[in-house]
Amino acid sequence: MNKKFLEFIPGEVPKREMHQILLSGVAPRPIALVSTISTDGILNLAPYSFFNAYASNPPIVAIGPAISAATGKIKDTYTNIIETGECTINAVTYDMAEQISLASCEFPPDINEFEKSGLHPIESHKVKAPRVMESPFQMECKLIETIALKRELGGNGNIMLLEVVIIHADEKVFTNEQIDPQKLDLVARMGYDYYCRAYGDAIFEVFKPKWNGIGIDALPEFIKQSNVLTGAQLAKLAGIKEIPQKSNMNFSLVKEELITISGMPHIVDAHVTSEELEKAISTLVDQERIDLAWCLLAEYLGN
Ligand SMILES: Cc1cc2nc3c(=O)[nH]c(=O)nc-3n(C[C@H](O)[C@H](O)[C@H](O)COP(=O)(O)O)c2cc1C
Repeated sequence: MNKKFLEFIPGEVPKREMHQILLSGVAPRPIALVSTISTDGILNLAPYSFFNAYASNPPIVAIGPAISAATGKIKDTYTNIIETGECTINAVTYDMAEQISLASCEFPPDINEFEKSGLHPIESHKVKAPRVMESPFQMECKLIETIALKRELGGNGNIMLLEVVIIHADEKVFTNEQIDPQKLDLVARMGYDYYCRAYGDAIFEVFKPKWNGIGIDALPEFIKQSNVLTGAQLAKLAGIKEIPQKSNMNFSLVKEELITISGMPHIVDAHVTSEELEKAISTLVDQERIDLAWCLLAEYLGN
């Protein structure tokens, strides 16, 4: 392992740089488009990517409005939530990205950011702050608690814990009664001005084994040491319940399938090299044919 890691130590690195380094690694972050209403009745809208869900019973989320490092200004969102105890949080789709970026400009508190961003307010049911019509997933929230982060040492962070009192999800984003990420098409924030889009090939499923997998440490030694198989492929092989016995598998029955899927006509011959075997296993694993990969392995391991 000849990786070289650069070190960034808080207090030694300029604050701005630390901010970008931190946010580049803590990514992608979901974006909360937070709608609030001031005590004067002015609508406010701003994106917050210091945001996540922390509990589902009851549903609790948190956002992190910072005191601006540049100006020392407290965010209007923060002030409004403290004063009214309420907000709505709206998920951000790819189509909304440019508009939420516009809403993030530091407009004065008397400016309605719905009007500035062109996004549309719709009435909420349990809080006064409106929801954002364009968003397919909206939460009405009530403030539980605010935590100032190391304020005594000049810290500029805050955590606002919010209880979700109602969720509104557009019926169009459902497939078979489940929210379909491809239909949601959400964006997330990376470091600097980068965003990413949860859509198409960027979305994939990882099935958690329903049992305790044997683990990579239990794989045959030559497979663990392989230069062909990746960590991901090893993990898929190691997700099985127990190493299959050769006696329980009918190699001759799956020979044709092995040849077709691996694309290696001689893979069923007695004298394949270890590298050829690893390549065939790699292809089989990529095709999600873990059963065939283990059949091949069991045959050559002779167990
Ligand atoms: C995608 C995105 C995410 C942001 N996340 C945060 C955040 O988590 N915390 C924060 O203090 N500011 C964040 N900002 C900056 C605020 O949106 C910006 O300061 C905004 O003007 C605050 O508006 P307000 O004063 O109306 O609340 C983010 C900006 C963008 C574009």
